[in-house]
Amino acid sequence: MKSILSFSLNGAPVEVLVKTTDTLLDVLRESLGYTGAKRGCDAGDCGACTVIVDGLAIRACLAIALTMSGKEVVTIEGLGKQGDLHPLQKAFHQHGAHQCGFCTSGMIVSAKTLLDKIPNPSQDEIVEYMSGNICRCGTYVEVAEAIQAVSGGKE
Ligand code: FES
Ligand code: FES
Repeated sequence: MKSILSFSLNGAPVEVLVKTTDTLLDVLRESLGYTGAKRGCDAGDCGACTVIVDGLAIRACLAIALTMSGKEVVTIEGLGKQGDLHPLQKAFHQHGAHQCGFCTSGMIVSAKTLLDKIPNPSQDEIVEYMSGNICRCGTYVEVAEAIQAVSGGKE
C-alpha cells in the first residue's frame, strides 16, 4: 500500500508515492534520485545519511518517510552546486577533509547544522558535535580544520 507524501526538498515542493515502511533515505535515493545522502550502516550508527529536517540534522535511514509530511528537508544537493559551492564544501576540499568521500556529504550536512547553532565552535565542541559521523578513512583532523576555517564566516 502506497501513500502520497508531500514535503519541501531543498526549497522546492515534491510529491512522491511511498510505502509505509519506506525510510526518508529510501525515498531520497531510490524514488527521487538524490543520492548525496549515503547508505552506510542503514542502522543509525554512521551518519553517512545525515540530512536536515526543519533545521535539525537527522539520520535519514532511521526516519519513516511519511513522517516528513509538510516538513522542510535539505540534503547535500541543496547546500551548493558545481561552480557555486557552499563554504563548507570549499573548505573540505581545501583542507583535504575527504579521502574516499563516502562520509563527506553527511559530515558537511552535520557541520552546517553545527555552525547554524554555534557559529564559532571550540575544538572540543566540533569534536563532540561531529562524533556521530564516522569516517573509515580517518579524516577527523582535517574535518575539524575545515569546520574551524569556516566558523564565524572566515571563509
Ligand atoms: Fe544512516 Fe549509517 S546509513 S546512520
Ligand atoms: Fe572515506 Fe570518510 S573519507 S569514509
